[in-house]
Amino acid sequence: MKFAHITILSLLVLTVCAVAKPRATIVDYVPAREVLPLPVSVETVDGKPGEYIVKSSLYGSGFENYSSVKTKLTCEPGVKVIQYPVTLSLDQIDSFRTNYRLQVPADKKIVTCVRNVTDSEGSRTISFSFNPTH
Ligand SMILES: *[C@@H]1O[C@H](CO)[C@@H](O)[C@H](O)[C@H]1NC(C)=O
Ligand SMILES: *[C@@H]1O[C@H](CO)[C@@H](O)[C@H](O)[C@H]1NC(C)=O
Repeated sequence: MKFAHITILSLLVLTVCAVAKPRATIVDYVPAREVLPLPVSVETVDGKPGEYIVKSSLYGSGFENYSSVKTKLTCEPGVKVIQYPVTLSLDQIDSFRTNYRLQVPADKKIVTCVRNVTDSEGSRTISFSFNPTH
């Protein structure tokens, strides 16, 4: 091997050693507050074509209480949205759910809805759509 090769190889080995050397870093975590909308599920209703149940759930962390967290569902005109009672307490630490019943006109080929999730730090909207089965 030529001198240049040996030099390059040595440098390479040194670099790999330097990168691989474990670092004793202590990381301080700061708690973050967030509310995340989880994917919705859309279910048909037995014997009621044109009706769908939309189950919306959220995951929250870092808040002391979730009493300011609200979910509102709106769909395009013509689609009737009925909110069911919340099935889990909003003060529950991890997940909370809201169910809705939709009545979709027979001529709709696609339904688009928007979830508006509001917490103490603001609101955001997430949209979803589905193809009715009728
Ligand atoms: C939760 O927070 C709201 C508003 O910040 C407050 O009005 C309410 O009393 C709190 N509830 C609890 C159980 O701490
Ligand atoms: C979402 O809801 C909040 C609270 O009701 C409202 O202030 C905000 O304007 C809504 N956002 C949209 C895009 O509808």
